[in-house]
Amino acid sequence: MTSLDDLLDAIAAYIGRPETACLSLPPDAYLSSELHALEVREIFEKSWLCVGRDEYVPEPGDYYTIDVMGEPVAVVRGTDGRVRALNTACRHRLMPVVEGRGNAGRFVCPYHSWSYATDGRLIGAPHMEGSAVFDRAACRLPSYRLEAWRGFLFVNLDDDAAPLRAAMASMDAATANYRIEEQTEVFHYEKPWNGNWKLSAENSMEYYHHIGLHAGTVGVQMPAGGTYFPEIPPVDESFTHERCAMGDEYLAGADHPLNPRGDLAGLTREELDTGYLVYVFPAFTMAMRAGANNWLSFRPSGPERTEVLGGYLMWKDLVEDDPEISAARAALIEKVNAEDERATSELARVMRSRKAARGPLSPFEKTIAQFYKYLARALAPDRAAAARAAE
Ligand code: FES
Ligand SMILES: [Fe+2]
Repeated sequence: MTSLDDLLDAIAAYIGRPETACLSLPPDAYLSSELHALEVREIFEKSWLCVGRDEYVPEPGDYYTIDVMGEPVAVVRGTDGRVRALNTACRHRLMPVVEGRGNAGRFVCPYHSWSYATDGRLIGAPHMEGSAVFDRAACRLPSYRLEAWRGFLFVNLDDDAAPLRAAMASMDAATANYRIEEQTEVFHYEKPWNGNWKLSAENSMEYYHHIGLHAGTVGVQMPAGGTYFPEIPPVDESFTHERCAMGDEYLAGADHPLNPRGDLAGLTREELDTGYLVYVFPAFTMAMRAGANNWLSFRPSGPERTEVLGGYLMWKDLVEDDPEISAARAALIEKVNAEDERATSELARVMRSRKAARGPLSPFEKTIAQFYKYLARALAPDRAAAARAAE
């Protein structure tokens, strides 16, 4: 196994390299438990991670639980209408007070029946009157930072992190015309994938693999050869983006069911005639067309396992007007996600081969080179700064 020190040297070296002269990461970067531990500490425990959508908890009392980097979290819409991320561990002796999903007016711990309001306040603790150390006000379920962006919910385990809007501002401006806030889920996806999270990430930031993996599905709509890069790169390096010109039969004018429909007045010609792939560091991706959005969020649960959460969204009025189209698109996306999962698992399987080696990235994979530069800044800031100074 390559040492952590050597892996970080290899990652920092991307800083000085042109995006068209990059190799893929060393295979051990997808296997090393030391690198994984560093990624958890320096990236995932400090970044905004998408944990779902506002529409998963539409009513007061609605909740669902989710493991966020080992933290037991309940996303709850309080009776005051506000969505919170609560730590589920009871303040008595740490039993999770809630599991799964549902609607509740309060949470009652299954161990000794302490009960909590939907904002985390302790409201009942039987037989505690005689305790000299019991302080009701101090026994509240702690909360995590939770903020929303255009219908998506993000949690940050770092209580001192900068607000979500700071992390999203640059991407928000680039995607404003797509009216993501008007979308609703027509297909839900939630599954652990074999393999390191960076394999899932890389797979989600290039159209190049449409030529092989998705040749029978979205590769027809968006052929790999249509890939191009918007002239303005993300100035704050918080995300990557690229576009793909639609295949001939899908271009404007063709009355294809997968073509944009609805109120398209606010979209540019380019936005109507292309797919737009946006990857926000560290682990949130949206593959969009006008009115539609196939999103995924990744959370590593080990060096070689990734929790994948996502869905396919469409503008609400389209879903109401034409449920058949939503169903057809949902069926397509189910296939596409299965193809992506298969590729990621296959890569994970051969990564340990003694003959595994780094390979040259295509110019169509400039976004992956940008991702590696992000990793360098996040994981080896001193070495990255030195490499930058030497540029
Ligand atoms: S652990 Fe919850 S009431 Fe005892
Ligand atoms: Fe894909």
